[in-house]
Amino acid sequence: MNSMEAILSRRSIRKYTHEPVAEDLIEDILKAGMNAPSAGNEQPWHFVLIDDRSVLNEISKLHPYAKMLSEAPLALLVCGDESREKFRDFWVQDCSAATENMLLAAHALGLGAVWLGIFPAEKQVEGVRRLLNIPGHVIPFSIISLGYPAEEKEGLDRYDASRVHRNSW
Ligand SMILES: Cc1cc2nc3c(=O)[nH]c(=O)nc-3n(C[C@H](O)[C@H](O)[C@H](O)COP(=O)(O)O)c2cc1C
Repeated sequence: MNSMEAILSRRSIRKYTHEPVAEDLIEDILKAGMNAPSAGNEQPWHFVLIDDRSVLNEISKLHPYAKMLSEAPLALLVCGDESREKFRDFWVQDCSAATENMLLAAHALGLGAVWLGIFPAEKQVEGVRRLLNIPGHVIPFSIISLGYPAEEKEGLDRYDASRVHRNSW
């Protein structure tokens, strides 16, 4: 699958088989995340792998839109490290780029994944921080729920020419 095919066919997958995700695929997905562009090349990210069933269940309880984690074999938490910032507040964009790279890599590798928003929802940020012992200078940003897909979704054509402007609005 080339990059354009991956981008246009990726969908959020929320149902998975119970098969554990192969370690080499997890490493490929992490490589994709760490290869994202970042402001000043600061690479302000950390990743927490979560495959402990009781922790996955706890997150599914504290997050209002993360019920799929109670069935997912794996979740990857993407965090931003404020102590690595050269340009204030750009860590959000850096972690977004890393998250999207990881979603696309997961899809290209035959896995199913969905982005679960954490930051800036305070309750979710603090709930995940407490549960996983995340230090104060590190901010839980997003969770990628991951597994071998147990649902199929068609790619969608969302191209909308009315959103495109040239030279001025
Ligand atoms: C910042 C962000 C937060 C999201 N949070 C959730 C979430 O908490 N739970 C969920 O099931 N999906 C979540 N999604 C996935 C969106 O619902 C999904 O991308 C959107 O409906 C478009 O569908 P598609 O990904 O299949 O193209 C999130 C996506 C983004 C970008």
